[in-house]
Amino acid sequence: MITLADVSYVRLGTRDLEGAARFATEYLGLDVAERAKGAIYFKSDAREHTLCYFEGDPGDQAVCFEVEQHADLDAAAAQLERLGHPVQHGTHEEADLRKVHEFISFKDPTGNWIELAWRPAHSGKRYHGQRDAGITGFSHIGLCSSDLVRDEAFWTSVTNARVSDRIGDAPLLRIDEVHHTIAMFPSNGPGIQHINHQVESSDDIMRSYHFLRDRQVKMVFGPGRHPTSSAKFLYFEGPEGMVFEYSSGVREIADELIYRERQFPFEPKGFCKWGAKPAIAEFNK
Ligand SMILES: [Fe+2]
Repeated sequence: MITLADVSYVRLGTRDLEGAARFATEYLGLDVAERAKGAIYFKSDAREHTLCYFEGDPGDQAVCFEVEQHADLDAAAAQLERLGHPVQHGTHEEADLRKVHEFISFKDPTGNWIELAWRPAHSGKRYHGQRDAGITGFSHIGLCSSDLVRDEAFWTSVTNARVSDRIGDAPLLRIDEVHHTIAMFPSNGPGIQHINHQVESSDDIMRSYHFLRDRQVKMVFGPGRHPTSSAKFLYFEGPEGMVFEYSSGVREIADELIYRERQFPFEPKGFCKWGAKPAIAEFNK
């Protein structure tokens, strides 16, 4: 059993590094942590970085989770190899690039690149975006799945992820008390489906809605409120089609023993209780 302690960072390839950096700072509200050769690192909370854009193929995407113990990395590698998932051990140079002490990487059953890191760096510097978007931190990711039932079984049997709710067959998975850290989404292939940052309040969501819409940023979904996690949300499109989300007020599940996952319909009301419709073709006929 691999114990995931937190989601650490996302790495995204881009064909326009400066354009991606402009979006990340001026629109999304992140702070540049470091500019390196061919890569720019961004802060969204107390950690050294939570997003890295690097020069490369936009399809080259990875998400990293923190493990608590060094022994967890070896145990995870052995378990994944046993299950037929080849594991790569990051070199010192690759670990330095990720600002972690040590990491391994593998592909999940859909083909998503997953990294597991030990001792990701925290920063001694407070995060403050140059645009005040109200961000309190990087919180979760949407992960594409080509077989939801298979991938739910993988994540819940190989890691400490538990199902909080399902929308259709798409599980929302928690690794701690936060309602979800991984939101699976049906897809034909691998990819990060969205990247979530929590914001302080629903005022921040509405301010960003107007700010981004005025600048012709493509809105994808919302403002709305998830019936699953209770979070108020806004989804919009960033560089190379990546969807970013702000949300506020996510439910916490304090009592593991009495909580039971719930089933929601895979239709607009399963995603928003205010009536917003996701920009999914089948929902907008
Ligand atoms: Fe989300």
